[in-house]
Amino acid sequence: MNSVTVRVPAKVNLQLAVGPLRDDGYHDLVNVFHAVSIFDEVTATAETGMSVRVEGESADQVPEDDDNLAIQAALALARHAGRSYGVNLIIRKSIPVAGGMAGGSADAAAALVACNELWGLGLPMDDLLEIAADLGSDVPFALLGGTAVGTGRGERLTPLEVAGTFHWVFALADGGLSTATVYAECDRMREAMGEKVAWPRAGESLLAALRDGDARALGAELTNDLQPAAVMLRRSLARTLDAGREQGALGSLVSGSGPTCAFLAESEIHAGELAASLKSAGVARDLIIAHGPVPGPTVV
Ligand code: C5P
Repeated sequence: MNSVTVRVPAKVNLQLAVGPLRDDGYHDLVNVFHAVSIFDEVTATAETGMSVRVEGESADQVPEDDDNLAIQAALALARHAGRSYGVNLIIRKSIPVAGGMAGGSADAAAALVACNELWGLGLPMDDLLEIAADLGSDVPFALLGGTAVGTGRGERLTPLEVAGTFHWVFALADGGLSTATVYAECDRMREAMGEKVAWPRAGESLLAALRDGDARALGAELTNDLQPAAVMLRRSLARTLDAGREQGALGSLVSGSGPTCAFLAESEIHAGELAASLKSAGVARDLIIAHGPVPGPTVV
């Protein structure tokens, strides 16, 4: 086999409960991940060295050296296999860069799946999940797809049962936000307000809404503890979120560390109408309609 292409989805967080800051600089989380139908594609081709090229919108904001998370994934996999494999990766981006939708993690997960196949390693999912957790907190979920709750840094996953399909509108912003900066701002705001940080817990009503496929109930339960920090760092997001509520979204929140905002719709038709009204309200650089949950990385 000379070349393998893998399609991999973005994620939105339906609940992101941020617990206390740990000694290792991470926070204990309850992170309900949901994979949605915005896809990057990664093609891995056999080569002697390691190289990567990024194509698509905002490709110029993604590094094409060893800082690229997909290259780090390929290197980690080769190390795990104990061999000096080579690969050329071509990443075609549709997932917003630094947008709070785990685009970099998705590319890393796709690279793991593609190189596992290309190099004929046949490593089981459990091995890939272990390598993924070392690459980043969101990479294990990017391997899994569907809907799952993550604890620890977000890397310890339990898949969730979900009935039916949920329809979303994503409002893209100009420029990205650094995840580490948003977590640091969250800590700063909590400290300034003297807030006692509770141990994070999964929302029972949210889990029930997912089990029942009840979009209206889910809309009422969407929460993100990083949202106040993301809005503080990017004030325009307050207006974007307000516009979603005014235009009849069932729920709205900042996706992960932002700046992408997610709006839940009643149906595919409602998502189209909501995207059109948000477009005329002029509160986003672009709007994308998507649905979830969708499966994780797929060889195409
Ligand atoms: O794991 P990852 O490299 O994706 O995390 C990026 C940054 O996000 C970390 O360096 C940390 O600042 C923050 N983070 C955190 N707690 C988590 C996950 C991420 O503070 N559970």
